[in-house]
Amino acid sequence: MRVIIRDDYEEISRAAARDVARLLNSKPNAVLGLATGSTPLGIYRELVRMHRDEGLDFSKVTTFNLDEYVGLTPSNPQSYHYFMHEHLFQHINIARQNIHIPSGTTDNYDAFCVWYEQRIVDCGGIDLQVLGIGSDGHIAFNEPSSSLGSRTRLKTLAKQTIQDNARFFSRPEDVPIYAVTMGVGTILEARSILLVASGSGKAAAVAGAIEGPVTSMNTASSLQLHRDVTCYLDRGAASELKMVDYYDWIDEKESSAPPTVPRPHLLKSPTGVRQSN
Ligand code: GLP
Repeated sequence: MRVIIRDDYEEISRAAARDVARLLNSKPNAVLGLATGSTPLGIYRELVRMHRDEGLDFSKVTTFNLDEYVGLTPSNPQSYHYFMHEHLFQHINIARQNIHIPSGTTDNYDAFCVWYEQRIVDCGGIDLQVLGIGSDGHIAFNEPSSSLGSRTRLKTLAKQTIQDNARFFSRPEDVPIYAVTMGVGTILEARSILLVASGSGKAAAVAGAIEGPVTSMNTASSLQLHRDVTCYLDRGAASELKMVDYYDWIDEKESSAPPTVPRPHLLKSPTGVRQSN
């Protein structure tokens, strides 16, 4: 895992957005996996700015969102459909037919989940997946004890998650109890992954994910098994990591290396996605 720590949220958002932009510039028809929650908002703001000011082009991009609450229609302001349109899609030149977000209102969840998985495959697989992390270490809505091989499916949310996400709803009892979510196995098939985390409220989950054992009790820890993961953390989110000095040292050495010295995080694979290290 590549662990990049910056002083504040804006810096990690800009750095993560630059990685997305670098991919789109080298592969204009890239497939992006997108996340909701407050943490990716800074990335989306920066991508919108790059589209507006620098012409970052989304016309050939395809997207797949991680999850959606069961029971919320796309027009519900608390739905992830609404969130994505509000904060990203309506501000960029993405083709509407290239946007995929799990349905929270289908009649047949099993069939929908099979279709969603197949659609990802048919579109060539996810090139870059953006992830936040829950305070219990979940990625998407893969709550503790989710199988690390899980696929897109219905999930019952943990009480902690319902409590954490209640801030977006008028009343805590309005928070849905179920969600449709990509599985851990689905996420791990993305060619590269960016995890962003901000604030000390995420510090324990982040420490478990990066330095703890690989365990379904913190599904983000499964990312240790992936060959191309970058974690962008602010100092608060990094505050329970034991190896901060080491991560900072690697970051410093790689960013100051002369051009003749290979810099693993800048090497490109034929698809334009960075090589692993
Ligand atoms: C929800 C989403 C996750 C997200 C998490 C953290 O549970 N399903 O994808 O990572 O919230 O959200 P926030 O960034 O608001 O802390």
